[in-house]
Formats: sequence, structure tokens, C-alpha cells
Amino acid sequence: MSILVTGGAGYIGSHMVLSLLEHEYDVVVLDSLVNSSAEALRRVESITGKSVTFIEGDIRNRALLDQLFTEHYISDVLHFAGLKAVGQSVEQPLRYFENNVGGTLTLCQAMDAAGVRTLVFSSSATVYGEVANMPIHEGLPTGSPTNPYGRSKLMVEEVLKDLAKGDSRWSIALLRYFNPVGAHESGLIGEDPNDIPNNLVPFISQVAIGRRDVLSVYGNDYPTPDGTGVRDYIHVSDLVDGHLCAMQVIARKHGIGIWNLGTGQGYSVLNMVQAFEKASGRDVPYRIAPRRNGDVAECWADPSKAEHELGWKANRNLDAMMQDTWRWQKQNPNGYNLE
Ligand code: NAD
Ligand code: WQD
Repeated sequence: MSILVTGGAGYIGSHMVLSLLEHEYDVVVLDSLVNSSAEALRRVESITGKSVTFIEGDIRNRALLDQLFTEHYISDVLHFAGLKAVGQSVEQPLRYFENNVGGTLTLCQAMDAAGVRTLVFSSSATVYGEVANMPIHEGLPTGSPTNPYGRSKLMVEEVLKDLAKGDSRWSIALLRYFNPVGAHESGLIGEDPNDIPNNLVPFISQVAIGRRDVLSVYGNDYPTPDGTGVRDYIHVSDLVDGHLCAMQVIARKHGIGIWNLGTGQGYSVLNMVQAFEKASGRDVPYRIAPRRNGDVAECWADPSKAEHELGWKANRNLDAMMQDTWRWQKQNPNGYNLE
């Protein structure tokens, strides 16, 4: 029996593959490499001393999926494959809906035809939209995401809820990630964004290594302790542990479960800058810039449902997140680009 990891060459997926191998699972990765490099998987194999079956291809390719499920005995699917750049989704909505929603539909159809009905989906706290009071718990209604990317995640959630409601043979976990950051302790794999990073921590890291001149802090006039945006940053390795726990829970029951994967602790942009400077010993120059469209003031999780039902709790602190990020960046100033 193997675990299929779609998007397994990506930032979070590659960390998931590493952990699965360490837990003695056989792993098949399907990834189009539209936003990643096969080098990540080569390094995962080097770290673990184990091999991964890697298929370069697209989740939208039904014939490829049918062949994959015929040739490999898949027990579970961990579905990371998706486009995730918020700004790009505004410019290219059709691409995002076709890839993220259409791709998931094709994946689920192929899974159903193959009798594989255990699925963990990478969702996002963005499905809550703007929430007035923190912390955010799963009982809150999903709101109105402020961009096509977020709406694609919400649409997939609705599809999977209907799938589980209509066919009791499915076992599905919707994992709503807050803000994943950090890297494996080896420093050999990590987040390697294409182009200019949209997200805070990779941008800070690139300023520290000298690839970017200055960090733009998007607004310091929010109703938060220091005026800058507050988020729930979670170490990617804690996120991966949450997937292992979810796999074990949904293996024992049919239906659909929804869990926040966050720490329950919010940090501001300036908190993150200071933490990164402490971890790296480098200055991170910044300037105050206008607010970014679509940003909310604060967003952090109530993680108690995952703690009670999955037996999972994030345990890596901010120092570890920043130290692991810096180790990856220092060892790989240009990410996986070996030129
Ligand atoms: P990533 O871009 O590093 O990884 C996604 C992977 O999916 C990439 O390797 C890409 O090549 C692949 N992919 C995309 N479309 C594909 C397709 N049609 N067929 C095959 N492969 C395809 O992103 P990530 O940060 O690792 O995120 C993984 C998942 O988690 C995504 O679905 C993302 O939306 C979700 N998520 C990420 C965050 C975050 O802040 N990183 C937060 C919440 C949710
Ligand atoms: C964090 C904070 C910014 C960059 C996004 C997606 C979400 C999910 C996680 C996929 C905010 C501030 C940022 C910068 C800054 N991804 N910031 N300067 O926006 O909370 O969530 O990534 O699912 O869907 O929306 O994360 O890292 O972009 O921003 O001041 O150069 O840092 O304003 O307060 P965000 P982020």
C-alpha cells in the first residue's frame, strides 16, 4: 500500500513526503513542477536514504491518474497540489479555478473509479474570510474569501462536503492551515517561492540573505498591539505532524472532518522581524508601506479541536521557526536553483 502525495515536490508536500518515508510509508508523488523543483525530492531521498516514486504530471490529466491508480496500490491521498499565489489568482481567476477546483474534481473522480476514498485536503484559514473576534474555531461559518484563490479553497471544501454526504464510503479531512513557515531541521529542503515572495517570512529571509533590499511592512495602523498585522505562524513540520494524526483518525471512520492547523498564538509583522533578526544575527531593514488590499488585521486559530480529536498540538516555537528558516536560506541562498 502506498500514499499518494499530490504536489509532493512543493514546500509543504516535500516536508510531508520526508515524514511519511521516516514513518516507513511507501510514497508516490504526482507533481507537475509548475511551482517546484524535482531537486526537493532528490534531497528528501538523500535525507531519508529512502526512495520515492515520482510521477511528473498534472492532477487534471485523468488518463494519467487512472494509470497511476492501476499501477500503484494507493490507500490514502494527501492532496497538496494547487496554485496558491493570492495576487496571481486575482489576475488569473480562470486558471486558479480550473487548476484548484477542476483539478480536485478530476482527482476525486479518478479516486472513486479506483475505489480509493481516503483523502486529506490542504485547505486554508482564508476560507473564514474576515472574522471579527479571535481566535477562529471550526464552528464559525466560512465567510467570503477576499480573492479567487481563497474562493477556490472554499469551493473545494463544499465539493468534498457534498461528496462525503452523498457517499458514506469516503473518509475526508479538511485541514485549514494558518500560516506555515520554517523548514526541515537539515536545512536541505524549504520554501522556495518563484519570483518575488508574496509571503512575509520568505521575503524577510531574502532580505536577510541580501537578495532583497528592504521589507515593506504593509500597514502599521491596524487595531493591533503595534499596528501591524497579526497572524498564526505554524512550523511546517508541525503542520506535517498534523497530517499524520489526521490520516490515522480518518482511517478509522467514514465521513468528513474539519480541523484548524495553527498554534493559537498570534505574532505581528514587527514581532516576526525581531524574531528573525535574533535567529539570523542579520539586520532586516524595513519601511512602513500602505496596507495591502485584502489583508485582515488579525487571524489566529483556536487549535483545540485538532488537539482533542486528532491528538495533535503544534510544539515548535517562534525561535525554532525562524532558526530553521534561516538555516535553509543560508545554506540555499538561491533556493533549489543550483546555477
Ligand atoms: P507549493 O506551490 O510549494 O506546492 C504546491 C505543489 O503543487 C507544487 O509543487 C506545484 O508544482 C504542484 N501543483 C500545482 N498545481 C498542480 C497540478 N495541477 N498538478 C500537479 N501538481 C500541481 O505550495 P505549498 O505552500 O506547499 O502549499 C501546498 C498546499 O497547501 C496548496 O494547496 C496550498 O494552497 C495549501 N496552503 C498553503 C499555505 C501556505 O501558506 N503555504 C497555506 C494554506 C494552504
Ligand atoms: C502575513 C502578514 C501582511 C508580506 C497568505 C494567504 C493565505 C495563506 C497564507 C495560502 C500580513 C504582512 C506580508 C510583506 C508584510 N496562503 N506582510 N510585508 O496574507 O496572512 O496569508 O498566506 O493558503 O491564503 O492569504 O500571509 O505572509 O502574505 O502576510 O507586511 O512583504 O505579513 O500584511 O499582515 P497572509 P502573508
